[in-house]
Amino acid sequence: MAAGWARGRELTREPIPSGVVTEHFAVRGGARLFGTVDVVGAKNSVLKLMAAALLAEGTTTITNCPEILDVPLMADVLRSLGCTVEVAGDRVTIDVPAEPGAQADYRSVSRLRASVCVLGPLVARCRKAVVPLPGGDAIGSRPLDMHANGLRKLGATTEIEHGRVVAQADDLHGAQIWLDFPSVGATENILMAAVLAEGTTVIDNAAREPEIVDLCVMLQQMGAKLEGVGSSTLTVHGVSGLQPTTHRVIGDRIVGATWAFAAVMTRGEVTVRGVDPHHLELVLDKLRSAGAETRAGVDEFSVSMAGRPLAVDFVTLPYPGFATDLQPMAIALSAVADGTSMITENVFEARFRFVDEMVRLGADARTDGHHAVVRGVEQLSSAPVWASDIRAGAGLVLAGLCADGVTEVWDVDHIDRGYPRFIENLASLGADIRRVSADPER
Ligand code: UD1
Repeated sequence: MAAGWARGRELTREPIPSGVVTEHFAVRGGARLFGTVDVVGAKNSVLKLMAAALLAEGTTTITNCPEILDVPLMADVLRSLGCTVEVAGDRVTIDVPAEPGAQADYRSVSRLRASVCVLGPLVARCRKAVVPLPGGDAIGSRPLDMHANGLRKLGATTEIEHGRVVAQADDLHGAQIWLDFPSVGATENILMAAVLAEGTTVIDNAAREPEIVDLCVMLQQMGAKLEGVGSSTLTVHGVSGLQPTTHRVIGDRIVGATWAFAAVMTRGEVTVRGVDPHHLELVLDKLRSAGAETRAGVDEFSVSMAGRPLAVDFVTLPYPGFATDLQPMAIALSAVADGTSMITENVFEARFRFVDEMVRLGADARTDGHHAVVRGVEQLSSAPVWASDIRAGAGLVLAGLCADGVTEVWDVDHIDRGYPRFIENLASLGADIRRVSADPER
C-alpha cells in the first residue's frame, strides 16, 4: 500500500503524493451488464479454514480458495507458527507440525485483521497463544471482548500485554457460553478452542453465517463432534484429537450479491455461478422488491432488470439478516432508485463514512447515527472517490457504473483484497472499467 493512504485513515481530499506508485480504477458509466460470472470461495471462510488447519498435525488441503492478497498473508501468519504452507492457484496446502509455535509474528498479523482467528486453535493445540492485536479498521471499532470472555469460560486466562493478546490454559474444559451479540469472529474462535476441550461446550446466541457452517463442516470432517450446526445454539463435544482433511470452500455470497446488485443497477441480466442461492434469499427478495426478476438454481442464480429500480429499505443484521458487507451496495442501488430508501446499519457503527464519497458522485444521501436516507436520482455524475474499505470500494464502483463520464476509484488495494479478478469479471459482463497506474513506468 502506498504510504499515506493507510487503511483506517479518514477519507481524504489531498492530492496524490507525487512519486508514489498508486493505482485507481477508471469506470465509464452507462453500460448495461449482461452475461455469466463465476464466483470462487469466500474470503470470510477461507481464512478461518486455514486457521482451523492448526488443530490437527499433518497436511490439510483447502480448495476453491480465492486468489486474493489475504490468502498469502494468512499463509505468512501460519508460517510464523511453524507451518509449511503452499499456495498454488486455488489450492492451499498447510503442513502443521506436531508442536506449532504459540506466537504469531507481528508483521504478518498486523496486515490482516482476520488473523486473530488463530487464537482459538492455538489455545486448543498449544494451551498458549500470543497474537498481536490487529488494530483498528475503517468500518469501526472491532473489540475482542467476546472472544476473550469465551476463552476464559473454557478455562484460559487472557491478558493484553505489550499490544498482544496472551491466552493460556493448563486445561480447557467445556462451558456454557452466552454471547452478547452473534459475533462471527467470537463464535469461530470459541468453537475452534472448544473442539479440543474436555467435555461439552454450548455457545448460545452463536453467529450462524454460512461461513460458520462451512467451518463446522470442515471441523466435522476432521473428527469434531458438533450439534446445532447452522443454528444459534452450537453444541461442541470435545475430542482428544483431530485429523487433517481436504475441504472445498463455499462460494462467496458477498461477491455473488455484488454482481447481482450491479445487474439490477445497470438494468442488465447476469447469471452468477458458484454461489448457493439459499445464502442470499433475503438479498434476492430485496432485489425482487426493487423490480428485478430472479431465478435460483443449484449453486447458481440469475437476476434481470428491465427498468429503473424502485426504492427499497434495508436493515443490516447478523445472518440470516441483510449482511453489513452489502450495505454499500444497498446505498449504491438506492442512489439511483425511484423513490426514497432508508438504510439502517446495526453491525459496524462507522460503516456509513463512505457515504460522503457517494455524495461526491451526486447521490442525494444523508446519514444520522445508524440510519441513512437516500433519495434516488435519475443520474449520478462521475468524480474521483476514495475506497475506505473493501465493500465501500465495490459500492463506489457500482455507483460509477451508473454515473455519466469516468469515475476514478482510488485506494483500490482494498477492493483487490476482497474481490478476485474484480476488473476482469466486471469487464466480462460488459462494464467499461480498467485499472490505471499513476506511475507511467509501470
Ligand atoms: C466478520 C467478517 C466481516 C463482516 C462481519 C459481520 C471476516 C474476516 N470478517 O467480521 O466481513 O462484516 O463478520 O458479518 O469474516 N464485537 C464486539 N466484541 C467482540 C467481537 C465483536 O463488540 O468481541 C462487535 C463488533 O465491533 C461489531 C459486531 O460485534 O460491531 C460484529 O462483529 P463480528 O461479527 O465479530 O465481525 P468480524 O468477525 O470481525
